[in-house]
Amino acid sequence: MKNSNLKVAVIGLGSIGKVVASNLVKGKRDVIIAGKTFSKAEALASELGSLARPMEVAEAIRQADMVVLAVWFSTIKEFFETYAAELEGKIIVDPSNPIAPDDKGGFKKIIGQYESSGEILSALLPKHAKLVKALGTLGADSLKKEAFADPRKVGFYATDDQRINPEIESLIRDNGFEPVRVGGIDKSIDIEVFGNLHEFGALGKAVTLEEAAEKIQPQLA
Ligand SMILES: NC(=O)c1ccc[n+]([C@@H]2O[C@H](COP(=O)([O-])OP(=O)(O)OC[C@H]3O[C@@H](n4cnc5c(N)ncnc54)[C@H](OP(=O)(O)O)[C@@H]3O)[C@@H](O)[C@H]2O)c1
Repeated sequence: MKNSNLKVAVIGLGSIGKVVASNLVKGKRDVIIAGKTFSKAEALASELGSLARPMEVAEAIRQADMVVLAVWFSTIKEFFETYAAELEGKIIVDPSNPIAPDDKGGFKKIIGQYESSGEILSALLPKHAKLVKALGTLGADSLKKEAFADPRKVGFYATDDQRINPEIESLIRDNGFEPVRVGGIDKSIDIEVFGNLHEFGALGKAVTLEEAAEKIQPQLA
């Protein structure tokens, strides 16, 4: 299948951002990368090769059509304010899980039990931007290890604007996963941590399309 022409930027080069950028390069997709400092992006780009281009955050967002915000939930909220002008009209891909360490060595949700970061962020979006919840349903290790598996494992996503489905699906395929839309942003909770379709929720692992169909068909839109 042909790669999309939309330019993608990955902002935030920690555990998830690095894997997403590296998967995209494996998927032969050009990727703009930006971290807190330019030198971090430059160092990663030299590891990833010529498909990865390092930039400052504002310039990366300006040049991209789709922006993967691989930063923490609270940082995404800050980004929406700081980079409101640059993010106007962009497709924003949100992998965030609204959690913080608890006092028992695990993680706890930092928003209400029935709230999702997707729904909270969709109410705060910069002008004309479109939100997609994706690339956060597997832990970073699985996102790396399971990419381009044969048969492919599923990458779930949720978005309200179905006109962008082909672009999102191309992004997920170029990351090495088979895209499955679970519904609108109101279904984000299912694909966020502790949700029914999350690796660290009811699903428990990465699944193939066949396994997904068997286990979760009733939940799919
Ligand atoms: N880790 C997982 O297994 C996993 C799985 C699913 C979803 N997620 C979600 O993915 C998101 C990223 O998680 P992560 O584990 O990758 O976190 P992480 O390893 O802490 O990486 C976050 C990155 O964001 C960067 N950052 C912070 N502020 C920034 C700014 N103003 N401009 C540019 N970059 C900035 C940090 O840079 P510095 O290092 O320079 O501070 C860091 O590299 C979170 O929302 C998380 O919930 C994570």
